[in-house]
Amino acid sequence: MNLEIARARKRDNRIPIHGPEAFAGMHKAGKLAAEALDLLAPKVQPGVTTQELDDLAFEFAMDHGACPAPLNYRGFPKSICTSLNHVVCHGIPNDKPMRDGDIINIDVTLIVDTWHGDTSRMFPVGNASRRAERLMDVTYKSLMLGIDAAKPGNTTGDIGAAIQRYAEGERCSIVQDFCGHGLGQVFHDRPNILHYGAPGEGVKLQPGMIFTIEPMVNLGRPKVKVLQDGWTAVTRDRSLSAQFEHSIGITETGCEIFTLSPAGLHCPPYVTT
Ligand code: MF3
Ligand code: CO
Ligand code: CO
Repeated sequence: MNLEIARARKRDNRIPIHGPEAFAGMHKAGKLAAEALDLLAPKVQPGVTTQELDDLAFEFAMDHGACPAPLNYRGFPKSICTSLNHVVCHGIPNDKPMRDGDIINIDVTLIVDTWHGDTSRMFPVGNASRRAERLMDVTYKSLMLGIDAAKPGNTTGDIGAAIQRYAEGERCSIVQDFCGHGLGQVFHDRPNILHYGAPGEGVKLQPGMIFTIEPMVNLGRPKVKVLQDGWTAVTRDRSLSAQFEHSIGITETGCEIFTLSPAGLHCPPYVTT
C-alpha cells in the first residue's frame, strides 16, 4: 500500500495479535486467493486481455462465496491488479491484449468469511527475455528471504534488510514508496512492512501478528510515479519491475504462509536453485 497514506493513518502503534480463529480464517482465505492465481496462470498468454483475467477472477470469487477486495476499494474499479512490464503495482485491468515477451504481476485479494487473503505472482507472457526472467527470479527469492526472517525475536527491519541486501546485491533496486501491511478482517492494517532497512529496526515480531510481504524490485532506479488514473504506479525510468506477495502469520517458531498454492505453483518454473 501507499506508504504516506499508511503513515498518516497510523494513529498509534498497537499491532493486532490474532488468535487461532484468525489463523484458521486466514488459512482459508489465503488458500482460495492462491487457487485463483493457479486458475489464472495458464490463461496468461499473448492476445489475452487483462480484463479477461479480471472477469475470470471475479467469477472464481463468486463461485466460491468470496468477494474480490480491490473492487470499489478506495475507488479501485476492478477485482484484481494487473501490472505489466514497467508497471510497479496497482495496474488496472483493461482491453489491451498482452504481448509475447511481456511480464505481468497478478495481485489477488479475496475476502472469505471476513478474512483477507492477499497474494501476487509474476508470469511471463509467452517467452520472456532472460533479463526479465532474472528480475522475476531475484524478486521471488527476495520475498522468500524476507519470509525466512519473519519469526519471533526478529523485527520488521530484519525482514526489510534481508530483502534489500539480496536484491541490491543482484544489482536490482527496491521500491520504497509501497510496503507490505498487516491484514486480517482489515485489508490494510498495522504493521507496515518495509522492504528495505536495517536489521533490528522497526517493531519486534510476535506470535499472532499477521501481515503481507510484497517486495517490488526494479531492474533500474527505484523511483516510481503514479499515473493520471490515480492508481497505476510505474518506474520513472521505465525499467522493468516485478513483485511477489504472500500473506503470513507469525507463530511460536517462525511463520505460516497462508497463500501457498495447493498445486505447488507459487514457485515459478523460471526460479533457479
Ligand atoms: N493487493 C494490493 C496489496 O497487495 C492492494 C490492492 S488495492 C487496490 O496491498 F485498490 F489497488 F486494488
Ligand atoms: Co498486499
Ligand atoms: Co496484494
